Amino acid sequence: MCGIVGYIGTKKASPILINGLLKLEYRGYDSAGISTIEKYGVSNLKNKGRVANLYDLEGINDLEGTVGIAHTRWATHGKPSKENSHPHLDNSNTFAVVHNGIIENYSDLRKFLSDNGYIFLSQTDTEVIPNLIHYYFSKDTNNDNKKFLRAVNSACKDLKGSFAIEVISKLYPDVMIVARKDSPLVIGTTETENYISSDIPAILSFTKNFYLLNDNEFVEVYKDKVVFYDNDLSIINKPIKNIDWDASAAEKDGYEDFMLKEIYEQPNTVRETIGSRIKKGEKCAFDDLELSKEYLSSINKIYIVACGTAMHAGLASKKTFEELTNIPVEVDIASEFRYRNPLINSKTLVIFISQSGETADTIAALKLSRSKGAKTIAVSNVIGSSITREADYTIYTHAGPEIAVASTKAYTSQVVLLDILAIHFAEILGSYDTKLLENLKNDILELPTKIDKVLENIDIVKDLANKVYTEKDMYFLGRGIDYTVALEASLKLKEISYIHSDAYAAGELKHGPIALIENGVTVIGILTDKNLVEKSISNIQEVITRGAKTFIISNQDVNNKNFDYVLNIPDTNAFISPILSIIPLQLFAYYISKNKGLDVDKPRNLAKSVTVE
Ligand code: M6R
Repeated sequence: MCGIVGYIGTKKASPILINGLLKLEYRGYDSAGISTIEKYGVSNLKNKGRVANLYDLEGINDLEGTVGIAHTRWATHGKPSKENSHPHLDNSNTFAVVHNGIIENYSDLRKFLSDNGYIFLSQTDTEVIPNLIHYYFSKDTNNDNKKFLRAVNSACKDLKGSFAIEVISKLYPDVMIVARKDSPLVIGTTETENYISSDIPAILSFTKNFYLLNDNEFVEVYKDKVVFYDNDLSIINKPIKNIDWDASAAEKDGYEDFMLKEIYEQPNTVRETIGSRIKKGEKCAFDDLELSKEYLSSINKIYIVACGTAMHAGLASKKTFEELTNIPVEVDIASEFRYRNPLINSKTLVIFISQSGETADTIAALKLSRSKGAKTIAVSNVIGSSITREADYTIYTHAGPEIAVASTKAYTSQVVLLDILAIHFAEILGSYDTKLLENLKNDILELPTKIDKVLENIDIVKDLANKVYTEKDMYFLGRGIDYTVALEASLKLKEISYIHSDAYAAGELKHGPIALIENGVTVIGILTDKNLVEKSISNIQEVITRGAKTFIISNQDVNNKNFDYVLNIPDTNAFISPILSIIPLQLFAYYISKNKGLDVDKPRNLAKSVTVE
């Protein structure tokens, strides 16, 4: 859960590297560092704290090198400190390495290297890598021009766990070696410069041409060429992928924070997700999916597996899949699913959702499902991400880069995409009334305009956030699909405001949680499902009786019910209501966090991409 950047070209590397790190800071932000190849050897400037602190490091402005690597850290092994910051050097200061991932067998490797005379200066797992490279380099008697590459390759073969690494050496000032296994890495390429990064947005302003690395690939990156090798160091051909994201999508565009920008992008991002998948009067189209009626009729279960917000998107679409296709759906947390020996076989379809496409647990659950014979579909936002390369099929949300750690636009795009997928299945199977499907598709097409309306009417949200931001606990209630939104709203609040909150199915309240309700506590109710609204109102009356202050999001007429605050949102089909009802609650969390003076985009202890389990 760190970010790495590399540059090799004709310009001074350090400003490019620091600028890239600033864009990757969402991946980790407790320490940062940079190494470049200078006339005297490999520089190494680093410290704990934010990337911007690099500007204050003595010597940073003296760096002249045109080849360099850099790292922003989210500590796993060893607390944030200068010693534990990357880059790490070998004992002879010949090789510098930045690493994203976890080396699971680092204690064994450390012991092996210590027994061979190596000394360790940090508590990190990473420090074994430059020393292992040095170990293999010094043992290699063949002094040809592949010696550096061979040493990196041999070192990596000893590593258990996950890694994306960049390595530079004072002995080879014209080349950088990069490699990956289970951690993301891309190379942005031009004729005279190459950029390496943990993700595409950080280097999107330099090029739209990318190489996407696969596991166990090794690369020699020169300023004017890139050579790919497999694990046995045979040369492989790698096509360039053109990524047509708009570079400004990775900038704040005048918004105070990425999260706010991403919330306001939702009319557009949902429009992009719908794209040409729904056209009036036609059946839904998914270019990249080839699932026959025979296959869909043969499956007896759909699993939807994901983590965090992506898992909540799965929960929000369960009802749509079940009602439209008559196939039972189970939604599971990837970290649970992968270790509970789930019942999967060739009659199971497993859908994996991951904005980043790099979440370690989700990837592991995907590999497990494939090994048990299930067909798999990846739902991702990041083109070429790991999950998309593992799954049988991939469908993209096309929401553009999501930078804020708290996921917003990815969620609404995931929900709408899954709902369209459910319609697609129903159309193939003929399992649902075609007129009702047509109505649902029309309602989906109206979503962008309705999201605009929600975003125009948020004064109550701001006002309430201003009143309650000092509170310690809040509760979210809903039934059915509204309960799934309560779960997502509660996650949003806790992750960026650090206020404790919980979500409950409204009918479950009496079975315990109501004991928590006391005078003045804030309870937020989501009431959009016509069939369940009256039931939920009764539950909320019970908390009012016990002194709770209530904030209701509803598309029904729920005024005059003694609620303290009511926010009316546009009515829509019950299947897709989460796409509208979550938006005020994303903003509620956002404004509470702002009122508390917190860093909305980079909440404490969290990273955007969870590439370790
Ligand atoms: O990239 P992914 O969608 O796989 O990420 C999954 C979760 O880590 C993510 O949704 C997380 O819960 C968000 N920070 C929530 O806002």
